[in-house]
Amino acid sequence: MSLPTASKVLFGGDYNPEQWPEQVWEEDYRLFDAARIDTVTLGVFDWALTQPAENVYDFTLLDRIVDRAEAEGRNICLATGTGAHPPWLARAYPQVCRTDFEGRRHRFGQRHNSCPSSPVFRRLSAELARRVARRYAGRPAVVAWHVGNEYGGACYCELCGTAFRGWLRDRYGSLAALNTAWYTTFWAHTFTDWGEIEPPSALTEHWRGPDHTAFPGITLDYLRFMSDAMLANFRDEKAAIRESSPDLPVTTNFMGMYRPIDYHRWAPHLDFASWDNYPPDDTSQARMAFTHDLMRGLKDGAPFWLMEQTPSVTACRDVNPLKRPGLLRLWSWQAVAHGADAVLFFQLRASRGASEKYHGAVIGHAGRQDTRVFREVAELGAEFDRLGDAVLGARTPARVALLFDWDSWWALDISDGPSRLVRYQQVVLGYHRALWDAGVDLDVVAVTADLSGYDVVLAPALHMIKGDVAERLAAVARRGGSVLTTFLSGRVDENDNAFLTDVPGPLGPLMGVRIDEWDARGPEVVNPVRLRSGDHRLEVESRLIFELVIPTSAEVIGSYLADFYAGTPAVTRNAFGAGHGWYVAAGLDQAGVSWVVRRVLERHQLLGPYPDVPDLETAVRVGPDGDRLHFLLNHRDEAVEVAASVDGLDLLTGDRIEAGRRLCLDPYAVLVIRADPTG
Ligand code: GLA
Ligand code: ZN
Repeated sequence: MSLPTASKVLFGGDYNPEQWPEQVWEEDYRLFDAARIDTVTLGVFDWALTQPAENVYDFTLLDRIVDRAEAEGRNICLATGTGAHPPWLARAYPQVCRTDFEGRRHRFGQRHNSCPSSPVFRRLSAELARRVARRYAGRPAVVAWHVGNEYGGACYCELCGTAFRGWLRDRYGSLAALNTAWYTTFWAHTFTDWGEIEPPSALTEHWRGPDHTAFPGITLDYLRFMSDAMLANFRDEKAAIRESSPDLPVTTNFMGMYRPIDYHRWAPHLDFASWDNYPPDDTSQARMAFTHDLMRGLKDGAPFWLMEQTPSVTACRDVNPLKRPGLLRLWSWQAVAHGADAVLFFQLRASRGASEKYHGAVIGHAGRQDTRVFREVAELGAEFDRLGDAVLGARTPARVALLFDWDSWWALDISDGPSRLVRYQQVVLGYHRALWDAGVDLDVVAVTADLSGYDVVLAPALHMIKGDVAERLAAVARRGGSVLTTFLSGRVDENDNAFLTDVPGPLGPLMGVRIDEWDARGPEVVNPVRLRSGDHRLEVESRLIFELVIPTSAEVIGSYLADFYAGTPAVTRNAFGAGHGWYVAAGLDQAGVSWVVRRVLERHQLLGPYPDVPDLETAVRVGPDGDRLHFLLNHRDEAVEVAASVDGLDLLTGDRIEAGRRLCLDPYAVLVIRADPTG
């Protein structure tokens, strides 16, 4: 099962009519028509309404809401409503409330407030999902189920402790295996009874917070367990839904690069991926592209839904900047360019009270339609209407893969040494930025992904080597591809224990280097690196981490220029089979990363059409019938002129485009060109 069926890019968002009298609904639908909003996500936080007491279910209001949406011809993405539990539940069963990292049992409040291991929570959340599905499954307007909301919020209670011990028994089978995996001879930790095992928290293994642990192996397993525990909640609800709704797709809204949950472990259980895009600032174009690709990678490249984005401002940050005119459109098309088949907002009408009353909405408190934001939403809605089904189901033809691994992220971020300043996410984003600037289509995939279709695989900071990933990377190079990895890769096995071999462990043969020593310095210390390959030369800076490389078979591409290791290799390339293994041993600056990545891409002729025009993004999607759609997104606030790279039709204006002809792109311009079929 995959995405909900549709005949165009679905357009709409979270809608909470339960917060308003029915006259307002009238007005809402008139405005939805004006903005061509065809899809509403309903009931995300309705638990206290649909189940006002343990033995009372009351769907009167939700019935009216669903009836109305259906009568108005909208698609409904229907939530189970378990994103926050109701006050009566917390009062009757304090066990449903989370215990935090500091060991404090919470009382009723906020949301993400449930203990995932609480049998009461599990029973009642599944029961609610069961009843919602039973009641509305037959309704033609309902196109998808939305379980929970933005899963997150770790718990450290006794119930979770017990569940953790059960999870560990399944994983290790015996205490002997667990003691070996956790390396418990260190600091007198040998466990002699399962009951001795505690969740790693501020009261046990941690100091200074969640990233500082005496036993990374224990902390890693708790992260995995917690991710699985919340997944079990999702699966409880999904199973309950399936009893009466065998065919409708089920999803939950992810949060992109969200560290606490390993979305790769979740992905097989979702029918389609969806996520909420709230970038940290308005210079996050590359990061958003990365995250869209990461989310698309969850389901083997199948399209996803952009479940939420604000049309204008967020409210939860200390400072909440307004999206500049044109960005709502540009960023929505960026999502589509990277694989979204639905573009939805949070929210359609602004809340009047509580913490999100200043959060942006399609319809503000005054209910006007003559606002800039509403106009931009309506114009975008009209564009999606014009586009029709052209992108639906279309896939990204990527020949480059970027590996992203939650385990490596966790292991590196919680590691004592070599440096707390080297952050997994920043390293990966730096390499992605280089790919993005070069204009190459790429997939962001798990280490378990099939790599046989890629010419280039980047595996920055692949700290942990699991399963057969080293062999599969070697296979990419053997058949002529290029594999790149960096400092702090190939260091530990899946239990976070160091390999008893030269660094980079199982990646050593492919990389043709050996690392005996490494140096870490504060951000003020720069070691210049001279890069050289063919006619390309550049001097760049490196910071934070400097591994000392002894080539075993690799050639030197870049060398340190300072310190006692001046003149030794900082970047190498190893001929391996018909391809190469590239090793970047230093924390190169962005110019250095880009230089190396471009050398890799050039070998495979993979640079995009405009690699030297900053912030002009290109992306391609190929439809089920072979149509090639070229997206051109100008992220600059100034116009830019480039030569068209294909013959085709601009689907938004109907203009003919001819390859080689000048295209003048306005600030924040979007072009969707359907290339003419070739030959
Ligand atoms: C998240 C949630 C929504 C809302 C928005 C506000 O994405 O899912 O309920 O709180 O954030 O930005
Ligand atoms: Zn708990």
